[in-house]
Amino acid sequence: MGIADLSSDDIMWLLQLGESMLDINRRSIKKAPTLRGKTIINLFFENSTRTRTSFEIAGKRLSADVINISASTSATKKGESLLDTGQTLAAMQPHLLVVRHGLAGSCAFLAEYLQNTAIINAGDGSHEHPTQILTDLLTIQQSLGSFEGKIMTLVGDIAHSRVARSHLLAAKIMGYHIRLVAPKTLLPLHVARYGCSVYHDFDAAIPGSDIIYMLRVQNERLTSACCFPSIREYHEAYGLHRARQRMAGDHCLIMHPGPMNRGVEISSDVADSLNSRVLHQVENGVSIRMALLTHLINANNPPMLAHNNEDEDDDED
Ligand code: NCD
Repeated sequence: MGIADLSSDDIMWLLQLGESMLDINRRSIKKAPTLRGKTIINLFFENSTRTRTSFEIAGKRLSADVINISASTSATKKGESLLDTGQTLAAMQPHLLVVRHGLAGSCAFLAEYLQNTAIINAGDGSHEHPTQILTDLLTIQQSLGSFEGKIMTLVGDIAHSRVARSHLLAAKIMGYHIRLVAPKTLLPLHVARYGCSVYHDFDAAIPGSDIIYMLRVQNERLTSACCFPSIREYHEAYGLHRARQRMAGDHCLIMHPGPMNRGVEISSDVADSLNSRVLHQVENGVSIRMALLTHLINANNPPMLAHNNEDEDDDED
């Protein structure tokens, strides 16, 4: 499942549950017994600071046993396939696998074979990143109160960003509008089918924006080095610096999923400004993942954002 499989009611419900988890995260003893006796495996084939750590913290704060496996320490280094690794871990009977992988569709592929294991997609190649989007939506809701009619200007490497793709899907469900800003070399073909507006001139897209959402250039996914002439020119044309933030006005939120490349897509003064929501996104990432883990591992709840074919069959009965 991805973000498009959720209804706006599902999303609002998850945001509400996420908001209720904020309290646990802020108190001095950060522990609830909700997932005692449950086992979660984080299986990360790509680098991650925020997503992996927030899933680990989320599981631990809910008293689950959390095991972290990264590609560099797993048997994939010895030539084991994704499927064999998945089947091996599933045979240890965890309640849930959290998977990040460099290939689009890898989580869906695993889910097809691991019929009895719930899997959360923590990012599959340039395809989807649903839990980041829920994190972002909670952050937007806290600052703007609602989504309907809001304008998000999404800037940068749209072509390789799973965050961009998942936001394009979420915007349709929640009723916000996306203005995409990128050089032609970093825009996927046929992107307008998502119902967004497309700009190549950043300045033209700024007026009226409620949110400016900056994306990192995904160097690890670029196949050639010719997408833009130089970092300096990229920053000039597509970077968010103070002058552009002024054009956007005081009401406009600045967001970024991290990791930021300061001086490339965003300047330090903007990243650290009052309107920056970057660290709110990080904090909310823990709460949203606590909400998802609670929801998915709790047997009485239907699966959302997870592949769990056993439960799907049950639903059909
Ligand atoms: C994003 C990702 O991994 O897709 N980061 C994240 O999960 N917080 C964005 C990125 O890597 O640029």
